[in-house]
Amino acid sequence: MFAADLLKDRIAVITGGGTGIGLAIARRLGTLGARIVIASRQSENLEQGWHALRESGIDALAVQLDVRNPEQVDEMLIRTIKHFGGVDILINNAAGNFICRAEELSPNGWNSVIGIVLNGSFYCSRAIGQYMIARRRGGSIVSILANYVWTGSAGTVHSAAAKAGVMSMTQTLAVEWAPYNIRVNAIAPGPIETPGAARQLWDTDDAVKRITSLVPLGRWGQPDEVADCVAFLASPLAGFITGEILTVDGGAWLGRGTFGFLDGKH
Ligand code: HXC
Ligand code: NAP
Repeated sequence: MFAADLLKDRIAVITGGGTGIGLAIARRLGTLGARIVIASRQSENLEQGWHALRESGIDALAVQLDVRNPEQVDEMLIRTIKHFGGVDILINNAAGNFICRAEELSPNGWNSVIGIVLNGSFYCSRAIGQYMIARRRGGSIVSILANYVWTGSAGTVHSAAAKAGVMSMTQTLAVEWAPYNIRVNAIAPGPIETPGAARQLWDTDDAVKRITSLVPLGRWGQPDEVADCVAFLASPLAGFITGEILTVDGGAWLGRGTFGFLDGKH
């Protein structure tokens, strides 16, 4: 589908790149020729991710940080530039989430998810955007949202509000930074099979069945399917696309019309 050297010599930072969708994105961008920085909190995730990338022959650097801490974000950028000589692509993928009714959610629970998703995506975009503007060679930012940016999401008010905030940030930065040839886009996935999300959001067979029944394509997405879309948006193939939100959800949110999708009967 993609030319093997599509991202040759580009340098890509992927937050939360040691696990799940982030690792699939790191691997996909790496196999297309990019050099990869994965950045997250837990050394175990970073080590496993780094080894997996190296086994695939990908030149990778792991940086420990909490995206809620702007100083650590700035240090990650400095380490990236020292190690690889620059940054061309940022993927805002790090997230936190859990199911909790809004009236039971503590202020700290709210702040935790808003801090990771909304503030963290801004701190990373701001630091790397400043660098790209000063460097004058353009760049590409892709943020991972969720398909409930279109609908809201009962049970995850913190995540829904944060992801919608990142969507608005995407559209805003797309216009502000277009004069610098920095493209800013996002992907809005539906249910994707990852251990991290399963642990936090759907840890019973019943929940998995119910969610599957809401997807018109009748199945869950795979991390690689998100990664392919990220690769497209981050690459020159999408050179005239900015401010776009690409939904990757098997038709799930559109299936919420009054008549559903005929109760899943095809
Ligand atoms: C209620 C909870 C809670 C839960 C945590 N809290 N889990 N409240 N129900 N299940 C509350 C805590 O009690 C605390 O508030 C506050 O949140 C912060 O908790 P900490 O454990 O101190 O937070 P922290 O160590 O910063 O961890 C952040 C986290 C955690 C978000 C809470 O779950 C995490 O690290 N998640 C990262 C991985 C992840 O979530 N991946 C899933 C992404 S999938 P108090 O008031 O007690 O101090 C995804 C898919 C969405 O986003 C789309 C689907 C379609
Ligand atoms: P995941 O494996 O749990 O990924 C979350 C990643 O974020 C982890 O690598 C975690 O690493 C990192 N992270 C969490 N808090 C962080 C912090 N404060 N600073 C730095 N990194 C942090 O789950 P996933 O399913 O792959 O999710 C990846 C992305 O896809 C998220 O944005 C999620 O919202 C989105 N998404 C997933 C689905 C789905 O169905 N799976 C659907 C829609 C959208 P550490 O613990 O090492 O920090």
